Amino acid sequence: MPNSLRAAVIGVGSMGANHARVFARMPTTTLVAIADIDPHLRERVSRTYKANAYSDYREMIAQEKLDVVSVALPTNLHNQAAHDTMAAGIHSFVEKPLAESVASGRAMIDAAERYDVVLGVGHIERYNPAVIALKQRLDSDQLGRIYQIHARRIGPFPPRIQDVGVVFDLATHELNIMEYLTGSGIRSISAEVKRTLQNEHEDLVSGILRFDDDIVGVLDINWLTPTKIRQLSILGERGMFLINYLTQELWFYENRSAQDRWEGLATVSVSEGSVTKYELERVEPLRAELEAFVDAALNGYNGLVDGEEGVRAVYLAEQLLRASSERRVISLPPYVPIPSLQKDPVGYGTAR
Ligand SMILES: NC(=O)c1ccc[n+]([C@@H]2O[C@H](COP(=O)([O-])OP(=O)(O)OC[C@H]3O[C@@H](n4cnc5c(N)ncnc54)[C@H](O)[C@@H]3O)[C@@H](O)[C@H]2O)c1
Repeated sequence: MPNSLRAAVIGVGSMGANHARVFARMPTTTLVAIADIDPHLRERVSRTYKANAYSDYREMIAQEKLDVVSVALPTNLHNQAAHDTMAAGIHSFVEKPLAESVASGRAMIDAAERYDVVLGVGHIERYNPAVIALKQRLDSDQLGRIYQIHARRIGPFPPRIQDVGVVFDLATHELNIMEYLTGSGIRSISAEVKRTLQNEHEDLVSGILRFDDDIVGVLDINWLTPTKIRQLSILGERGMFLINYLTQELWFYENRSAQDRWEGLATVSVSEGSVTKYELERVEPLRAELEAFVDAALNGYNGLVDGEEGVRAVYLAEQLLRASSERRVISLPPYVPIPSLQKDPVGYGTAR
């Protein structure tokens, strides 16, 4: 492969324009082309980054000898476009949610295998420094046993999203992060959704999860709140971690009693201890994830969030919607979260 990979973006709307900027600025890539059906966006992004513009991405694939592509189309168009890029031997990065269904997501994984290319998925929060720092602290057992993980992702409705509801669009972020951080598979799901301002899809979901390790999960996600909040807390034996995804901040609220108990001074209880805010270097998560993608394209799999993780999040989103529509608790087959060594997709579609 050449030193600078020939990169392109399919769909340069809200997210794709950022992919174009990052590819144009990374030393390992040259943004050579973009494709979009919207002539104004096409013209603006191609002029800004001096990239060739196409209305038909298939023509771009045929003309440009591409090495890597980002697919940032509406979700229900991901599968077809990713199939077309991968069939041309191009390493492909697909925005999250990977697909509008598990079947569609699995077709993309099969295509990546058949054409021997990297398939990356845009679970951007995995590249958020606060999430990375929290994962390291959990792995070093700072929290002890985990009791609960609670995610709040609320804000106003983005009118450009028409093809999926808030479960596919936003809950997929948290479902992926929750299994990643706890290292534990979700075993049961119950949920209530509401369709309030949107005609076709839900715009609010409240979900209750149970993980293999007996951890309780809470999802509070909507497009109805007039302020944007993106927070996750993890409560455990020795205290509580709190993340603000937006500001990339991480706090630890220590349980003073757990510390005393450790030193033989107290019985089981909970009391307020010190509060620590960790110093983290801010980075652009999109840049970090596209760097990981390009590195995987050049050097092979490196922990990049891949198709299996993407389809797992889609599967869990489907089960959330099912739990709500069937008004019952859905039990899921055992699952060991990636990145562990188990990548066996057995169990998709067999939830009870
Ligand atoms: N990782 C994240 O945090 C994050 C954030 C926002 C969006 N996204 C994802 O990115 C994807 C795109 O979302 P968005 O918010 O940028 O939407 P958007 O509507 O702003 O952009 C989509 C673009 O695709 C173009 N398009 C549609 N059909 C096309 C076709 N056949 N060929 C070429 N171009 C076509 C549209 O003209 C538009 O410019 C979605 O899957 C969304 O879930 C991810």
